[in-house]
Amino acid sequence: MPEAPALCEHGAMKRSLCGLLPLVVYALLASFFAAPLRAGPAAIAIPDSHGAEVAEAVLREGGNAIDAAVATAFVLAVTYPEAGNLGGGGFITLHHQGNDRFLDFREAAPERASRDMYLDAQGNYIKDSSLIGHRAAGVPGTVAGLWEAHRLYGTRPWKSLLQPAIRLARDGFVPHPQLIERTREAFADYEGKTNFRDYFGPFAAGDAAQQAFRQPELAATLQRIAERGAQDFYAGRTAQLLVAEMRRGGGLISREDLRRYRAIWRAPLQQAWRGYTLVTAPPPSSGGIALVQLLGMKDVLAAEFKDAPYLSRQYVHLIAEIEKRVFADRAEYLGDPDFFKVPVNALVAPSYLRQRAQQVDRTAISSPTGVKPGLGESLQTTHFSILDAAGNAVSLTYTLNGSFGNGVVVRGAGFLLNNEMDDFSVKPGVPNLYGVVGAAANEIAPRKRMLSSMTPTILLKDGVVQGVLGTPGGSTIFTSVFQTLINLFDHGMTAGEAVAAPRFHHQLLPGTLIIVSRCCNLPEQTRSELTAMGYDVRQNSWEFGDMQVIQRTDSGTLTAASDPRGRGQARVFEVTTPAAAPEKPRSRPAAVAE
Ligand code: GLY
Repeated sequence: MPEAPALCEHGAMKRSLCGLLPLVVYALLASFFAAPLRAGPAAIAIPDSHGAEVAEAVLREGGNAIDAAVATAFVLAVTYPEAGNLGGGGFITLHHQGNDRFLDFREAAPERASRDMYLDAQGNYIKDSSLIGHRAAGVPGTVAGLWEAHRLYGTRPWKSLLQPAIRLARDGFVPHPQLIERTREAFADYEGKTNFRDYFGPFAAGDAAQQAFRQPELAATLQRIAERGAQDFYAGRTAQLLVAEMRRGGGLISREDLRRYRAIWRAPLQQAWRGYTLVTAPPPSSGGIALVQLLGMKDVLAAEFKDAPYLSRQYVHLIAEIEKRVFADRAEYLGDPDFFKVPVNALVAPSYLRQRAQQVDRTAISSPTGVKPGLGESLQTTHFSILDAAGNAVSLTYTLNGSFGNGVVVRGAGFLLNNEMDDFSVKPGVPNLYGVVGAAANEIAPRKRMLSSMTPTILLKDGVVQGVLGTPGGSTIFTSVFQTLINLFDHGMTAGEAVAAPRFHHQLLPGTLIIVSRCCNLPEQTRSELTAMGYDVRQNSWEFGDMQVIQRTDSGTLTAASDPRGRGQARVFEVTTPAAAPEKPRSRPAAVAE
């Protein structure tokens, strides 16, 4: 502790105050060097109650947003197994002490993957081959991503952050009815093809909603990761079990693939928008570029939107037209930037967006070439948003791709694997699970990362976080984030209203199809007018999106909302424990592509 300065010795202060001076000086120095010493309001929006409880507890105990995100992501791997994961991948958009970062822990194609691996001798796609079973899995990135985020920004011991997940896996949790329903739906997809029922069989029981669901193998895996870190997953016992599972089922992921995997820091896509700065996902996600294009084109068409009341025929048509253009660019230009030169700047340039928006036909449906099937049935990914009392924010989206991924549970390790290989363009022009097509930019190559739509986003004004948001939903992710933002900013909705509002989606092919999320249809008159224009307006039998939003209102108040389509919780609460200083010195990231 520093010595009391000479000031005391000269009698300039009362003796009692002089005694306190070293403490005061120390506190000042400590607060200067360890910026996180703050308490105040924090907010979370998390897709399930277990995750919400843990995120709040970590923040209340003085952990920062990254600590809370790490603990939450591991909990969701236990209690939200349809999308929360160890065997998948995702992205973090991060605002930390004034810096904006983006962490890519997307899955990668195994070394033995090849462009035509899902095609038969005639060059036709082999049904379900990129969706179900071992060959559908990319090299998982989640554990590496969480480890890397914590390595640089965590303040709480890694091991302690995994304890809630270990407890929930070991002692069990009573499953939410939505999870039971989704699991039962998945049985049919995987029956006779994977070991899904061996692990998730208890959900078939009539009293599943009363019984704790225990996952002892997953608890042991989490325990190993808690003790040995990412090393266990990529080079230790868990790696061995994963490779053994691949051998059993003819999968491609090798020890070398796991050993080589790295999470990558990338420069986030940052864009000025109406006095705010959007911080969002760069490639290999298409989400950020798409969001910037949508917001930009909408502003170009401000006069047209002025004459188009919310959810009117004209409003839905204009949005469908700009969404169509975004999907056309996505199919042609977007892929893993380490393999394909993505023209990011050109795609978000104001002049380009003006030209694209001006091509929108105000009164008729512009026609894409060819007609392809629409969206598939399964849109599971998951997202959460966290803002700590020091103003740090994490916007994290991660996924197994389809609900419960490829349906394969790693025997002895108890976690599901992804079917993210389907997010590649398995054959140019052939739609994936989400009905979207792609070209060479997103074709399969060893070690390449498949194109995503995930759009974890943070909104800043003068360096202060004003919004944290994101959602699952496959190709509907960025159209949902876009519609939620304009609900907030153009239609003056509260966060709760913005996430609950109807959402609709158009994705180029088929050129006339508009899909509406299950819960909340468009007004009857809008639907009949769109139909008269030539649109095929379909209300889904399933929801898309599970928006998790934190917003700072114009008056500076924090609000948060979790989409009523899901089973999440949003909370704003006062943190009284100052955030802990980082537990160890930080170095630059191991893998940097910024
Ligand atoms: N698998 C969904 C996405 O990455 O967009």
